[in-house]
Amino acid sequence: MMSGHVLSIVGATGAVGLKLLKVIDERVKEVKQLRLFASSKSAGQKIVFRGKEIEVEDLEKSNFKGIDYAFFSAGTEVSLKYCPKAVKEGCIVIDNTNAHRMREDVPLIVPEVNMEAVKSHKGLIANPNCSTIQMLVALAPIHRVNPIKRIVVSTYQSVSGTGLEAIEILKKQSKEILNNEEITKGVYPHPIGFDLIPQIDVYNSETGMYREEEKMVNETHKILGASIKVCPTTVRVPVFFAHSESINIELTNPMSAEEAREVLSHAEDVVVMDDPANSIYPTPLFAQDKDEVFVGRIRKDSTIENGLNMWVVADNLRRGAATNAVKIYTKMVEL
Ligand code: A2P
Repeated sequence: MMSGHVLSIVGATGAVGLKLLKVIDERVKEVKQLRLFASSKSAGQKIVFRGKEIEVEDLEKSNFKGIDYAFFSAGTEVSLKYCPKAVKEGCIVIDNTNAHRMREDVPLIVPEVNMEAVKSHKGLIANPNCSTIQMLVALAPIHRVNPIKRIVVSTYQSVSGTGLEAIEILKKQSKEILNNEEITKGVYPHPIGFDLIPQIDVYNSETGMYREEEKMVNETHKILGASIKVCPTTVRVPVFFAHSESINIELTNPMSAEEAREVLSHAEDVVVMDDPANSIYPTPLFAQDKDEVFVGRIRKDSTIENGLNMWVVADNLRRGAATNAVKIYTKMVEL
């Protein structure tokens, strides 16, 4: 008899969906059945999983009866509409979008940081934003031994976070710029080829922040506690995969760079790469296709009391999305 669960991916043809397929294959030993959903545009398309072709189903015409766990990665609108339906139909949902993250009845989980909180779930569990995940995987081990009072973070986020269309527009615009051709418009408010865009998601005129920045504040408060002040600037950069973050923290007690390195070298899924004299530090190309969070440039900030700086890099589609979601599932079934 087959064991394991019936799993499904909603948004299976997208950037995160395809990565979920790969990570499920790598990390889940037994899969009873895998069902793949997308829009009517992709329905009927065949995707190979463990040597077998699976036909993509039209989400609108389907239901979740008989599915044990569903991973949602088809955007906030789809999650708002279909996650509650999936839960009603008896499925446990791990949602990768922003749709339900701040709901009180929805645990927001980074497996290495607050896995215990999953126990209170009512069918719906949220995966944090990619930028929040990698920041907290790196900072939570330090926070546990020396509480963090304030975080100032600037992100350098790759275009894959926006989806497959954004990867194509970066390729296209880069070629056009090199060939002195007219630049195709699309996806972002400005061309991303050879430029930086300090805008991610929608603007809030009341706070002066873009939503990606608000997510980093609110999600950090929900996961690590509301006493931490978080001051983010989120920037889209012309990199295909992996996000980087320059992070400054103010701690309660003194901590040397050496002590921080020691704490992080024992932390789950964190890899310290920190030998600046020999140009050893993580870069997005290095982190691409890996599951760990890479930390380098750990150094004292002597302009404030108990300050540290660091550089944190991780693959946004894997560590910041698919791997986080699949780890929630594999740890849940072990609990
Ligand atoms: P489709 O390929 O059929 O449009 P990305 O983040 O790379 O842009 O991918 C988004 C994913 O979400 C794709 O798999 C896409 O499917 C899916 N998707 C988008 N809108 C819907 C919808 N209304 N119903 C179901 N799936 C959707």
